[in-house]
Amino acid sequence: MFENLSPMPADPILGLMTQYRQDPHSHKVDLGVGVYKDEAGNTPILACVKRAEQLRIDTEQTKVYIGPTGSPEFNQLIGELAFGKDHKALQESRIRTVSTPGGTGSLRVAADFIKRLNPNATVWVSDPTWANHIGLFEAAGLRVKTYPYYDHANKTLKFDEMLQALAQIGKDDVVLLHACCHNPSGMDLTNAQWNKVVDLTVQQGFTPLIDMAYQGFGDGVDEDAYGVRQMATHVDDMILCSSCSKNFGLYRERIGACSIVAASSQAAEVTLSVLLYVVRCLYSMPPAHGAAIVETILGNTELKQQWLDELKVMRDRINGNRAMLVNTLLEKGVSRDFSFIAQQKGMFSFLGITPEQVAQLQRDHSIYMVDSSRISIAGIAEGNVDYLAESIAKVL
Ligand code: LMR
Repeated sequence: MFENLSPMPADPILGLMTQYRQDPHSHKVDLGVGVYKDEAGNTPILACVKRAEQLRIDTEQTKVYIGPTGSPEFNQLIGELAFGKDHKALQESRIRTVSTPGGTGSLRVAADFIKRLNPNATVWVSDPTWANHIGLFEAAGLRVKTYPYYDHANKTLKFDEMLQALAQIGKDDVVLLHACCHNPSGMDLTNAQWNKVVDLTVQQGFTPLIDMAYQGFGDGVDEDAYGVRQMATHVDDMILCSSCSKNFGLYRERIGACSIVAASSQAAEVTLSVLLYVVRCLYSMPPAHGAAIVETILGNTELKQQWLDELKVMRDRINGNRAMLVNTLLEKGVSRDFSFIAQQKGMFSFLGITPEQVAQLQRDHSIYMVDSSRISIAGIAEGNVDYLAESIAKVL
């Protein structure tokens, strides 16, 4: 039977990781996958994570099954981090959270949950969005359509068009929004724009699904959750998928969370039963180690402060890289305006060059980025920015 299979193309983002690792050039630059890197190009384990792991090793009693919800402590603390400890939906016991294998696992749980709610639902995603959003909702049997979002020509948000499109979406559908650090464009909604989107969500009655993969990488942990918190204040039903891959640097531990906000505590309990059924059928229960690290950090005042400090270092470095790239391109005599990169947020921006220029940068300069010209800003460093800017100048 297997001889009838045709090969699938490598994932557009993860495939780059392999190509980059195999490139023998010492001056190669990795702007591909969204992974934080320090000045030396390493992705170190956060010091707070190392301390939490040690505490965990010393105190862990068992490796028995954790159950489909994952760790209750993690679920509570990650919910408070996302919604804010005093959020009325938490106080009214209208939120249920399960631990998931990373943000992708959370999105897949959400997808199967939606499929059970309404098998005919369309999931509306921003144009553009993270490439895997489309694949994973389709894999769950859902239809995916796009709403206008990023204006490639003007490097701005197509906000009016976005609102017009959302105003056509009805209560049977789901709208996916990025909480912060929009992947791939780096173009976020302002708080005032979030308020309008929340109003429209209430008016139209569709279900919002917010993907928060970068909390703390934009302006700060609370600032980045503005949209999530506003939405949960005003709507009855909502889904939040969050990830600890980037902000805790726990990429390979696969830890994220799926939270459902419902109209009442009773309704939330029913949604939890559906979530647990979905989880049991998908992967039975989540891995425990990442959740244990996060709950140890968030549950300890000193470790939490250390984490917030380390997160700030990552955030400041990324923002600094944005300004450094823009300035270096200017210094190298590039006349095209790249100042938008310094205004955008989070891990990514589009350079706005053609796929041929992207291919040329990879072939002739060993500079790796996604075909769309999405660059991972954390891959820029003082040691490579001159080479990067000179190479961009050459291909322009
Ligand atoms: C990215 O967009 O590069 C990250 O979210 C990593 C991934 O899994 O694609």
